[in-house]
Amino acid sequence: MKRVTEPEVMGALEEAVDYSKTAKIYSFFMHKPIVDEAIRNLPCFKLEDEKIKILDVGGGTGEFAIRIAKKNKFVKIYLLELSKNMLKVAKQNILREGLQDRIILVQADAKKIPFSKNFFDASFCLNALHHQKNPEDVIMEMIRVTKGAGASIIYDSLRPSSEFLSRFYANFFGIFSSRLMIKEYYDSLRASFTIREIESILNSLKINSFSLNKRFFVYFRLII
Ligand SMILES: C[S@@+](CC[C@H](N)C(=O)[O-])C[C@H]1O[C@@H](n2cnc3c(N)ncnc32)[C@H](O)[C@@H]1O
Repeated sequence: MKRVTEPEVMGALEEAVDYSKTAKIYSFFMHKPIVDEAIRNLPCFKLEDEKIKILDVGGGTGEFAIRIAKKNKFVKIYLLELSKNMLKVAKQNILREGLQDRIILVQADAKKIPFSKNFFDASFCLNALHHQKNPEDVIMEMIRVTKGAGASIIYDSLRPSSEFLSRFYANFFGIFSSRLMIKEYYDSLRASFTIREIESILNSLKINSFSLNKRFFVYFRLII
């Protein structure tokens, strides 16, 4: 199936409110294992140092950032998001958890991350790469602002092979979601990349050292 791009930003307030409801459910199945794995494997989480800085690119309504902040009391998370309304809902979620001192909201474009080289100990981009028409700039920016190798981590859906499968996954995984979210998940699947496309993007960027794996059958994990 050919890639069909979707709007870059999730701009509407209704979308942000609905997204947050859905994310609260899927966060347990997706964000939780990512946080657990990162805390187990990334050296920065062993530091017990209040200066650990984590970047959450396209951080949406904050469910992932909140999970990391609750799991490790030392980290400071910078949630970078372009949509005002996603940030508005993220702010409410963060305030409800009392984590406003440790999760910093940054309204900015992931293609031009407003931080200096090596500012972050680790950076994550979850379910946001497929929003990019050309994801190269986002990948290069994550690498630029992150210290060392192996700490720029991207997870996203893999594009199914057919429209039928996209519709099936959207309805199956969206079973507890609103109609709007099922439609958006369908659009996301059609906008996602294949493993081959990711490899070809990395190749074009001359990135040779990375780990790229399929997770279950609908996701990939890329560590650079
Ligand atoms: C599907 S949501 C994922 C949110 C969150 N990472 C999660 O896993 O629940 C993708 C988010 O990326 C944001 N986004 C897309 N392009 C962006 C860009 N260039 N810069 C910053 N945020 C962006 C969208 O506005 C949207 O909130």
